[in-house]
Amino acid sequence: MAQPSPLFRRVAVIGLGLIGGSLASAIRAHGLAQTVVGYDARADELALGVALGVIDQAADSLAQAVRGSDLVMLAVPVRAARSVLAEIRPVLGEDAILSDVGSTKASFVADVESVFGELPPRVVPGHPIAGSERSGIRAANPELFARHKVILTPADNTDPEAVGRLTALWEACGATVLTMSVAYHDEVLAATSHLPHLIAFSLVDTLAGENENMDIFRYAAGGFRDFTRIAASDPVMWHDIFLSNRDAVLRVIDHFTRDLGQLRAAIAAGDGATLLRVFSRAKAARDHFSKMLSGQAFVTDNSNTQVTFHLQPGGSVRGDIRVPGDKSISHRSIMLGALAEGITEVKGFLEGEDSLATLQAFRDMGVAIEGPDEGFVRIHGVGMHGLQAPRGPLYLGNSGTAMRLFAGLLAAQPFDSELTGDASLSRRPMGRVAEPLRAMGAVIDTADGGRPPLRIRGGQSLTGIHYEMPVASAQVKSCLLLAGLYAEGVTSVTEPAPTRDHTERMLKGFGYHVHRNGATASVTGGGKLTACAIDVPADISSAAFFLVAASIAPDSDLVLRHVGMNPTRVGVINILRRMGADIEVLAQREIGGEPVADLRVRSAELRGIDIPEDQVPLAIDEFPVLFIAATCATGRTVLRGAEELRVKESDRIQVMADGLAALGVATTVTPDGIIIEGGQEIGGGTVDSHGDHRIAMSFAVASLRATAPIVVTDCANVATSFPGFVDLARSTGIQIRAEGGE
Ligand code: S3P
Repeated sequence: MAQPSPLFRRVAVIGLGLIGGSLASAIRAHGLAQTVVGYDARADELALGVALGVIDQAADSLAQAVRGSDLVMLAVPVRAARSVLAEIRPVLGEDAILSDVGSTKASFVADVESVFGELPPRVVPGHPIAGSERSGIRAANPELFARHKVILTPADNTDPEAVGRLTALWEACGATVLTMSVAYHDEVLAATSHLPHLIAFSLVDTLAGENENMDIFRYAAGGFRDFTRIAASDPVMWHDIFLSNRDAVLRVIDHFTRDLGQLRAAIAAGDGATLLRVFSRAKAARDHFSKMLSGQAFVTDNSNTQVTFHLQPGGSVRGDIRVPGDKSISHRSIMLGALAEGITEVKGFLEGEDSLATLQAFRDMGVAIEGPDEGFVRIHGVGMHGLQAPRGPLYLGNSGTAMRLFAGLLAAQPFDSELTGDASLSRRPMGRVAEPLRAMGAVIDTADGGRPPLRIRGGQSLTGIHYEMPVASAQVKSCLLLAGLYAEGVTSVTEPAPTRDHTERMLKGFGYHVHRNGATASVTGGGKLTACAIDVPADISSAAFFLVAASIAPDSDLVLRHVGMNPTRVGVINILRRMGADIEVLAQREIGGEPVADLRVRSAELRGIDIPEDQVPLAIDEFPVLFIAATCATGRTVLRGAEELRVKESDRIQVMADGLAALGVATTVTPDGIIIEGGQEIGGGTVDSHGDHRIAMSFAVASLRATAPIVVTDCANVATSFPGFVDLARSTGIQIRAEGGE
């Protein structure tokens, strides 16, 4: 078989330190060039390069290395780049690509421009984000770039073919290649790499200077070792970097010095609240490191995490379980707790990605929040006017509830804010909140079609309005009531059909009066919230999967504990009971203003029904799994008046119909609902959940009555509402296995 021809004929690597040496050996190891020629001014390093097999040939001079090479890689200290460029310019081939690996990019571009009089199209500045505190060619490692990022900073006139070839080279070395502007690269690196190195060098120097015999290091533990590891890096290289990236580095040093000064002042003043706020925000940021970065260009999106469910057919569902906390109540507990005066303690908080996004956003606005720890969260309220401007956009992941409720809250703050989300959230309609908020005096920009991101201008004074909601939406209602807390006068919202009333109930719990008159809820602005204790019930929307599972699987008997039974949420129980489900409601009680009960559910013969339209808003999130119940029932089930399902995390009518079709179940899709003929056999197959958590879990439930294995793809978002779903489902008898993920 013919060997594929290598990417390059002859690669010249100039400078055989750790990075140059590692790149040369990676190119050789992966067969990316016919010949790798090395040059280094230090003759012994060069000889070592050949002896260690890092390069094929050693060149006697720069000119000899560069002449005839179709790729020239500069891996010299950044301050040496200019003189090297001047020397190689006369011998650089017309078609040769010139690139580098330096840690600062503006300086490299300036050097190229001063030597060439322009930035030639085949010059592609680059920077592998890889390194080690070891330096020199002996540390060369062909795997150094595997699973690391390489940033290229092409200009507008850079030849795309050159960028493409270089990208292919780095990818073949195992790296992920990103492109960004020179200025952005230098800002980002100043903050995430240069500043930490400076602090590490400085700290070690300070401690060593104060203790001449360095005895103090004997007592240093792991924390010191981890924190200062990078102070063992190459001093010459770092001296170059700081001098070359001067402006960006000075900006971030000033920023850091100011923050450090604030911590010093807090310690001096015995201000524990500030310390706690900063430390808990930093801890959360560190814990959510990769997630936090995912909204930014230099790290790949975390939606790349692929999780696939594999399900074996059949089984019964038995046991005694408690599903995680209610998502709607968890979001609201953080929001109201943050704005309250005093400390709010929350039990049973949902540690799912959606409610964690809300929690993180408040930390980003200066609220100290302890936990979550096994569902326990302690929020140090800052009062109605205590939020601080976030430093950047608030990233709300997959959560429509967070984005819509935040819109109301932030419209009334004195600072500007921007709300962003993942790909699914970025497709969802936000005009439904932006328009009435504008009528209150808010200034909000959206992307085309009223989609996220939302840009909210601070400093507006809001005036109460009366709003007749065109759709029955608890999110819109809650958004306006939250804005109404800050508005002049009364804000009232009338709903066309009852929707979940957790906001109203919880406002009352925090001592804020909410007036209810038939279908209208109203608040008067200018009041305050007083901290309280919150016990979050288990989420009936999560319990719904098990209510259907135990109903359709033969020989099932399951108890679900502490389930929220708010009358605006029990549509799923009403509908299932109408279909003939055997659900017993036990030990009804009220906890923290919300009704709660234990539910016992046993297998039953379900019948198809016409779903009463008044139940639609009360079961709005449960339809995907109710469609599975309808498929297993005898007779026809008809759903109407449910067009809202088309703008949830996915178009839940179409995506469910497609998923059922993939398993051999025919349905009739209508603009506002679906018709399902029960009693059809559920076959095996592969279902695409379209990243919608509730679709993924619904098809897991369907496996109980399937005749062959089911595979459900794109399931990572199950963690938004139901962390631990797979283990809990398996413990009850669903034969599920997840592949992929963390
Ligand atoms: C929610 C309201 C509902 C629901 C969502 C949570 C809430 O959305 O689908 O999962 O917490 O207020 P709509 O208000 O858009 O119907």
